[in-house]
Amino acid sequence: MNYVGSDAEFRHITTMRLKKMKKRGEKIACLTAYDALTAGLLDEAGIDLILIGDSLGNIVQGHETTIPVTIEDIIYHTKAVVKGAKRPMIVADMPFMSYQVSPEEAFRNAGRIMKETGCNAIKLEGGKLVVDAIERLTEAGIPAMGHLGLTPQSINIFGSYRARGRSEEEAKKIYDDALMLEKAGAFAIVLEKIPAELGKKISEAISIPTIGIGAGPHCDGQILVYTDMLGLTVDFNPRFVRRYAHLADQIKSAVINFSDDVKNKEFPNLDESY
Ligand code: KIV
Repeated sequence: MNYVGSDAEFRHITTMRLKKMKKRGEKIACLTAYDALTAGLLDEAGIDLILIGDSLGNIVQGHETTIPVTIEDIIYHTKAVVKGAKRPMIVADMPFMSYQVSPEEAFRNAGRIMKETGCNAIKLEGGKLVVDAIERLTEAGIPAMGHLGLTPQSINIFGSYRARGRSEEEAKKIYDDALMLEKAGAFAIVLEKIPAELGKKISEAISIPTIGIGAGPHCDGQILVYTDMLGLTVDFNPRFVRRYAHLADQIKSAVINFSDDVKNKEFPNLDESY
């Protein structure tokens, strides 16, 4: 089988395909997922990229931050997503302290995540500090996605989830970091909660796709946490979340109906019995 020069043979979306999409001005639709069932639905709906975000710490595990998420947690959920989805590119988040110690440790952990799960790429947060790690991973065949702007793993330094890059100095740092990540070999960069103008400037300056979350309409793609856009997480209301459904309400009313039917002896009826 000849894999050279074409991604047609691959069953899933590749880094090359994402780059081509940017070149053609075709927007990239991305969502998070943490399990096979959801991943399958996103795949059937035509999502291009699924991220097993360390947001699973908040959404699945109930933590206040993403800090406690472990490599084992990411591996467990990524394995499930890989089983559920065929076409989208599958990107696993590297959890806090799995890549900061040294490029070698980042390499070992990223390699383990890829080998054990079958994901196509990993994502890691930060600018200048992760440049060496991204170089090491890329050289060794592990596609790396950057993440700039609001980086939730640094919550204990910043003390809040406010937007980043509003001051000239912070905007310049994020811009410079984006150029550095591209040079190091990153195949795409998530830009989180930064002014739309900065998102535009970065997207125009680099040849790899930018994936925005609260970074304005000029990014090459957009990502949301799937539970936010489906209205499953209702107490998280940043400006950048658009609700495409209100599933929390629907689930609660279905459960109330079920519970009432059981208590009123209306479920099951004879047709639902053997
Ligand atoms: O962990 C996550 O879900 C993320 C996205 C919000 C980009 O990093």
